[in-house]
Amino acid sequence: MRIRSSTFAVEPPVKSSSFASSTMDRPAVAQQTCADAEHPPPTISLTGVSKHFAGAGGEPLEVLKEINLTVAEHTIVGLLGASGSGKSTLLNIISGIIKPDRGRVCICGAESEEFNDWRAVSYMFQEDRLLPWRTAIDNVEFTLEAGSMPRAERTRRAHKALQLVDLSSFQRAFPYQLSGGMRSRVALARSLVTEPRVLLMDEPFSRLDAQTRALMHQELLRIHQLKRMTIVFVTHDVEEAVVLADQVAVMSPRPGTIREVVDIAPARPRDPTQPEVTSYIQRLRGLI
Ligand SMILES: Nc1ncnc2c1ncn2[C@@H]1O[C@H](COP(=O)(O)OP(=O)(O)O)[C@@H](O)[C@H]1O
Ligand SMILES: [Mg+2]
Repeated sequence: MRIRSSTFAVEPPVKSSSFASSTMDRPAVAQQTCADAEHPPPTISLTGVSKHFAGAGGEPLEVLKEINLTVAEHTIVGLLGASGSGKSTLLNIISGIIKPDRGRVCICGAESEEFNDWRAVSYMFQEDRLLPWRTAIDNVEFTLEAGSMPRAERTRRAHKALQLVDLSSFQRAFPYQLSGGMRSRVALARSLVTEPRVLLMDEPFSRLDAQTRALMHQELLRIHQLKRMTIVFVTHDVEEAVVLADQVAVMSPRPGTIREVVDIAPARPRDPTQPEVTSYIQRLRGLI
């Protein structure tokens, strides 16, 4: 696990000689540089990414197979699939936490292994992971504590991030004093305080009730309009995928492959009861 728990920004992957694949195993496209792929290069591109784990009996468990995916800058892409289809594994590969067995991962125009600006990549987990003994603002500030930023500047930025998620008036509250939606806002502020270029989210709103979840969707879209970071989020919720995403990559059950990448055309805000939106929901339901 190379996410620095104190920062919630992604730590640089350690170059490892035990990396399972040799250069020879990789597809021929790996001879190109990431920046060659397109001009300007996409924020994220995955080519021929495969991954297996050791199964319960020690046998190889094929989890991801030949994944090709491109995420353009400023877009919102949803990874949609059933439980166990490898969505979290794929997100962890994008973040450099897990190395693929085969294939290549480019991020912000660099090979994942060469990329050295992991602070530009934030990760929001399924559970909020707030520290119970710290106030909301101290939880957000915590992300900045690993660097050399002066305390006053950390506090200023944390305050700004809480303002962005509309939670300024609760900045001195402890997590137990906050509702589920408010905790989710703090977790979002903590992911945004580093002003990331890329925001990776693993089912971040799945523990919220439907109404609060819908509010958080609106909040995320509002913030995306302002900040324009590239977002990749994982979900098994078809409605969530259609409401949020510019594109939805639909994954097959294990071994996860990308079945189809669907452009979601309707203008935002998208009301899941509107026929144009409903037709996308039905189409995606048919694909997973
Ligand atoms: N570290 C690991 N070791 C062994 N098996 C794993 C590991 N991580 C995930 N898996 C297995 O890989 C498959 C995909 O997991 P995951 O990526 O978490 O799926 P999803 O997020 O789509 O539910 C599951 O069968 C899971 O049990
Ligand atoms: Mg998962």
